[in-house]
Amino acid sequence: MTPPKKLVEINEVLHIITYPKNVAEIGVARSKKLTELGIKGIYDYGPLFVEGLRVLGKGHSSIVLLAKHESIGDVAVKIRRTDSKKDSLFREGYLMTLDRFGVMPKVHYFDDDLIIMEFIDGVTLGKYLRTNDVKGATLLKLIMNVLTAAYKLDLNLIDHLELANPYKHIFILKDMEVKIIDFESAKVSENPCNLCRIVSYLTNLLRISKQSNMEVMLKKYKSGCRDSFQDILTSLTSVMAQLNGISV
Ligand SMILES: Nc1ncnc2c1ncn2[C@@H]1O[C@H](COP(=O)(O)OP(=O)(O)OP(=O)(O)O)[C@@H](O)[C@H]1O
Ligand SMILES: [Mg+2]
Repeated sequence: MTPPKKLVEINEVLHIITYPKNVAEIGVARSKKLTELGIKGIYDYGPLFVEGLRVLGKGHSSIVLLAKHESIGDVAVKIRRTDSKKDSLFREGYLMTLDRFGVMPKVHYFDDDLIIMEFIDGVTLGKYLRTNDVKGATLLKLIMNVLTAAYKLDLNLIDHLELANPYKHIFILKDMEVKIIDFESAKVSENPCNLCRIVSYLTNLLRISKQSNMEVMLKKYKSGCRDSFQDILTSLTSVMAQLNGISV
């Protein structure tokens, strides 16, 4: 059973919204902005514990909190760390608004210091594989959904650039829906190949040797022939099915 989420007033967590420097002036300004944007409080909730509060995540550039919005409900708030090397989250927030296929968290607001977005209530691909005994048809479905999400990013002309090791950027939701997060390094590109990185990663992980026809198909896909996606999907899933002894 999921533990109840405890709501905390923003003013009680000024040290978190200005982590790690804890600057009073910035805290007051950020708190005022969050309140004006409709944030009613911060939940003490998430897999990580930072200075007295559970949070959804902590990266090099940000802290991510679960918050209560007055009209939207639960939202994730990505707040720029006060020691971040990046001077803004604006580009990342903007890029996420370009999503046409629903593979990224929906963005409600963004500026230099904040991104208010959809809370992704799922687990990372890494955790999903570690904690569920995924095999057979379920594994096939998972792989298909992950590949399809990467393909959708490609169709959207967005290169994530951090999917070579996608363990922590790919989230698996209930019903095995896939969402991709953290577009900090992402860029708009004429010919992205998120799919290529995921295929390489998966073939390594599952110890499937990349057959020569796969290399040809990926090359074709990379050169812009997006129709090859179906062939890549069919080829990869049938190799996996053979390994698992199931029919597709
Ligand atoms: N929309 C969201 N819903 C739920 N959890 C999220 C969401 N966005 C981010 N997180 C959690 O917060 C963590 C940090 O987020 P993110 O990777 O975007 O931050 P970052 O500062 O860019 O991190 P890094 O330095 O690792 O790149 C994620 O790994 C994830 O667990
Ligand atoms: Mg990042």
